Amino acid sequence: MALQIKLANSCPSAEVLGILVTEDHISTQLTNLPVQVDYLNQLVADRKFKGSKGAQLIVPVSHANYKYLVLVGLGKKKSTDHYIENLRRAMAELVKTCEHYNAKTLAINLPQAELFGVTPAYLVEHAALFAQIANHKFDTYLTDLSKKEANIELTLVVDGDLVVLQPALVKANLLAQAVNQTREWVDLPANHLTPTVLADKMVAIAKNAGLKTMVFNEAEIIQMGMGGIHAVSRGSAEEARLVLVEYRCGDDNAPTVALVGKGILYDTGGLSIKPAASMETMKEDMAGAAAVVNAMAVIAQLKPKVNVIGCTPLAENMPSGTAGRPGDIITFYNGKTAEVKNTDAEGRLILADALSYMVTNYKLDAIVDIATLTGACEYALGNFFSALISEHDELAAQVKQAGEISGDRVWRLPLTDDYKPCMNSNIADLSNISSGRYKAGTINASCFLQHFVKDVPWAHLDIANTAYDIALPYYRPDTATGVGVKLFVELVLALQK
Ligand code: BES
Ligand code: ZN
Ligand code: ZN
Repeated sequence: MALQIKLANSCPSAEVLGILVTEDHISTQLTNLPVQVDYLNQLVADRKFKGSKGAQLIVPVSHANYKYLVLVGLGKKKSTDHYIENLRRAMAELVKTCEHYNAKTLAINLPQAELFGVTPAYLVEHAALFAQIANHKFDTYLTDLSKKEANIELTLVVDGDLVVLQPALVKANLLAQAVNQTREWVDLPANHLTPTVLADKMVAIAKNAGLKTMVFNEAEIIQMGMGGIHAVSRGSAEEARLVLVEYRCGDDNAPTVALVGKGILYDTGGLSIKPAASMETMKEDMAGAAAVVNAMAVIAQLKPKVNVIGCTPLAENMPSGTAGRPGDIITFYNGKTAEVKNTDAEGRLILADALSYMVTNYKLDAIVDIATLTGACEYALGNFFSALISEHDELAAQVKQAGEISGDRVWRLPLTDDYKPCMNSNIADLSNISSGRYKAGTINASCFLQHFVKDVPWAHLDIANTAYDIALPYYRPDTATGVGVKLFVELVLALQK
C-alpha cells in the first residue's frame, strides 16, 4: 500500500500541512495552527479563499517543520448532501496536491467528528479510506517510474484516544485494499484479464483470506444446464468460469446472504455488435464480479455473524462463427427459456444462471446482485447514485442505508407489476430485451432477473453508471471506481442479528 497512515494526537513535521476549513469564520479557524504565518489572513482575503467546497489555497512557508500549508474548503452543510462527503473529497484533494508537489509527508488536522454528525471512529475510517482511494493509480503498464503511484506518509491528527481509534484505521486499510484491488481488476484490459486469469486471481485472494472456493469450468457449466452463460461465452476463444466463494461465520442459524456479480471480461455486444465508441470501455463489464469477491475478502477479516456466499459468472462476449445468434432460444439452469433477441443484453443471461444456481443450492435469507447491466442507467441517474431495484422494502432499506454509510450511494427505482410484461416473448418464457414501448431499460432488465430468484428477498444493483469513467474529479475519473465493495461490507455488517 503506497499510502502509510498513522494516527497522532499532535501534529508532526511534514512537507505538507493540510488544514480543513468550513465556509464560515475562516480567520478564527486559522488562529491555532501548528505554524503561524503573519500574512495568512491577508492572503486568504486577497485570494478570496472562503472555504467553499473544493476550494484550495496553497501557501509556501519557510518553517523548519513544514514546506506548504494547504487550506482546503469543506463548504457548507446541506440537507441534500452528506457533509462527510465534503471531508472525503477534501482528503482526496490533499493527497493529489502532495502527489503534484512530489511531497512525501502529509499531516492533516482532522476536524471534530460532531461537525459531521458522525462518531470519531467513522471520521477516522473515512478520512483514511478516501485518502487511500485517492492515492491509488492504475500504473501497472507505465514503464516511466516517475509516473507510478506516489508513496506518501500521512498522519491524521486527532483528539481522541489513539488505542480506541486504531481499529477504525485498520478497517479503513482493509476496505481501501479491497476497493483498490477491485479497481485494478476492472482497469486491467481484457487481453491480460481473461475469465480464467480472473478466476485464478479470485481463488488466490479468497484462499489468502481463508475463504472456501469452488470453480466450475465451461464444460461443467454446460453440463449443469447453464444455457445463459454458455450462450454468451460460446463465441469466445476464452473459456467461461463460475466462481463461488464462501464465508461461514460458524453459526448455521445466522442469516445467509448471497452476493452475485456480473463478470463479463469484455463486452463487444456479440453478433449484435456495439458501435466502436460504446465498446471502448467494455473491459469494465466485470466490475460487479470484482466487487463481490473483494468485499468478501474484507468480510472474512471482519468476521461478522452472517454467512455470505459470493457467486461470479465470468465470460467474454465476442462475435464469431461459434457465437450465439440473435433469435436463438436458450434454456437456463432453472429450466426457463428465453429468446435472445439481442446478444448485447448478455449480462442478464449469465446472471440468470448464477441467480438460479444460488437460490436452488443454498438456503438464503437474501440475495443481492451487482452488475454493469444497462447503459440506460446513466441516463436515469447520471454518475452519482447506482440504481437499486427491489420488491422487498426491508432489504431495499438496508441496501440504501449501507450505501449512505459507505459512500457508495444508491437510488431506488420502481419495480411494480406494470413493468413486468416488458420481457414477454411469444415463443419462449422470456425475451432478453423489452419491446421498445417499455422504455425504462434499467427497470426492464430487473424484470428479467426477477424470474430467477424464486421468492428469496432480492435486490439488484445496476452500476453501469458508477463503475468506471465517472464525472467526479476527486478519485481519478477516467478509471475504475471500485463501487460496491464498501456497500457490501456495510450491508453484511448491518445484517448481523
Ligand atoms: N455492458 C452493457 C451495459 C453498459 C453500458 C455497462 C455502458 C457500462 C456502460 C450491457 O451488456 C449492454 O450492452 N446492455 C445493453 C442492453 C440492451 C441491448 C437492451 C444496453 O444498455 O444498451
Ligand atoms: Zn452487452
Ligand atoms: Zn455487458
